[in-house]
Amino acid sequence: MTPQLLELVNQINALGNDWHGAGSVNRQVLLAIARHCSAMGELRHTAETGAGRSTLLFSHLSRDHVVFAVDARGSLAKPRESPLLKPGRVTFIEGPTQKTLPAYPFDRAFQAVLIDGPHAYPFPDIEYFHFYPHLDPGGLLILDDTQIPTIGRMFEILKADAMYELIEVVHTTAFLRRTGAPTHNPYGDEWHRQGYNRPYYESLRADGSPIESRFGPLLRRLSGAVPPAFKERVPEFVKRKLWRRM
Ligand SMILES: C[S@@+](CC[C@H](N)C(=O)[O-])C[C@H]1O[C@@H](n2cnc3c(N)ncnc32)[C@H](O)[C@@H]1O
Repeated sequence: MTPQLLELVNQINALGNDWHGAGSVNRQVLLAIARHCSAMGELRHTAETGAGRSTLLFSHLSRDHVVFAVDARGSLAKPRESPLLKPGRVTFIEGPTQKTLPAYPFDRAFQAVLIDGPHAYPFPDIEYFHFYPHLDPGGLLILDDTQIPTIGRMFEILKADAMYELIEVVHTTAFLRRTGAPTHNPYGDEWHRQGYNRPYYESLRADGSPIESRFGPLLRRLSGAVPPAFKERVPEFVKRKLWRRM
């Protein structure tokens, strides 16, 4: 990373984590965005959902950065007016992404996309749906707030997908790189081809019924012999593991 870029990250960080009241990515994440993006040269097209300190940084990393956000707690107004925003490089699409993304005419491939807008299920998943067909091979998908269980689940799904390789997790922000694997058809199905689903699919017989574990009959017999009072003391996760084999 160049000294100028490091200085910019420090200036953005000096604005403070509470620069706007909607919650911001921290210095380590800003540094990781700067490091991964600058390693790809100047980016042609990038996008993010949500706005704030990350917007300032992207305006220096990308010639054309699109921001999809509502102005919760000044998170859109502040970067718009900040002297740290590189002028002429950012387009703000104001409004809930639930409405703006389906209406947006996606006509370019992105080299980096940050998903950090609304966090409730299923909104980040919906945002992902609109972006993933337009992510360049080699491009970065950055998923913030993976500590939120529904976003963590989305991260697990993407991590297992042939379309991505995991580069790094910084704090609770995941950095995935789009591989050259074919794009999953956004208007098709083929759930069984997805890495996250494959172990389940491969555990099914051709007629769709589950393949019985060779321990199934023994476990069922033992289960019948165990007193209920003892069963109650078995931890839930152990029970779940055993049920799967029965
Ligand atoms: C966690 S903040 C983003 C922080 C930003 N990445 C930063 O580094 O400062 C979440 C952002 O999502 C925006 N947001 C919340 N709900 C939204 C929605 N339904 N559609 C679009 N943006 C939304 C908020 O206004 C805020 O800009």
